[in-house]
Amino acid sequence: MKFLQRMRHLAIERRINQTYTKRLVAKGSQPEGVFWNSEANQINRFVTLLALINTATGTEPSTSNAGRPISIAEIGCGYGALYSYLQQRNSLDRWRYHGVDINPAMIAACRQNFPNEVNHFKVADRPQHEVDFSVFSGTFNLTPVDNCEQWLGYILQGLQNCWPLSRRGMVLNFLCASEAKINKNIFYTNRLHFINMAGQNFGPTIAVPTKDIDGDFSFLISRE
Ligand SMILES: C[S@@+](CC[C@H](N)C(=O)[O-])C[C@H]1O[C@@H](n2cnc3c(N)ncnc32)[C@H](O)[C@@H]1O
Repeated sequence: MKFLQRMRHLAIERRINQTYTKRLVAKGSQPEGVFWNSEANQINRFVTLLALINTATGTEPSTSNAGRPISIAEIGCGYGALYSYLQQRNSLDRWRYHGVDINPAMIAACRQNFPNEVNHFKVADRPQHEVDFSVFSGTFNLTPVDNCEQWLGYILQGLQNCWPLSRRGMVLNFLCASEAKINKNIFYTNRLHFINMAGQNFGPTIAVPTKDIDGDFSFLISRE
């Protein structure tokens, strides 16, 4: 990455960290602490992303404890809600999880929430070793910039950092609109535009509606 672009991305990350840290301090390790408006919305996103991986790997959810474990890195893991979801569903044999986040306060919260698994969580923007899938839930929803092109450039760079470490693909979600826009710091992508962009830069990409969340879509980017 060019020096100037790197500097710009670092400045963006500093602003993202300030916003999320303030929110975590105010709300704690709760869905609201990472700007979700309900636990159901947060979990429905996880459910849809994991279902896409199950589809890609040809595994029925009903047999989800069978077969080889699937390794996932959650990029933007917040306070660890996906890990907690997998733990509560006794799914940790099936899903080999590690989480990263650019925000040290989020990783500190994960380590506090999971004191026996502190090594599962790291301050980073990419997987810490090769995994089957990188998983992003809400990672790029909140933006400190007001220019869609600039934000898409930041997103593309974030995905490019993870792609070489994602053996089988990446899954992520976005709010979608007929035209890409940023409204009150929330980014909405154009679904077809994103599918084309991901297809050109990575691999075949599909989108499905996120369970019970109007306007939200979940994307699977696969290796050919
Ligand atoms: C909306 S929260 C979602 C947290 C978690 N995925 C969940 O669903 O509970 C987005 C998280 O992504 C993190 N984040 C934003 N940009 C990131 C990036 N480029 N790399 C890693 N983490 C990032 C933020 O710090 C924040 O914790």
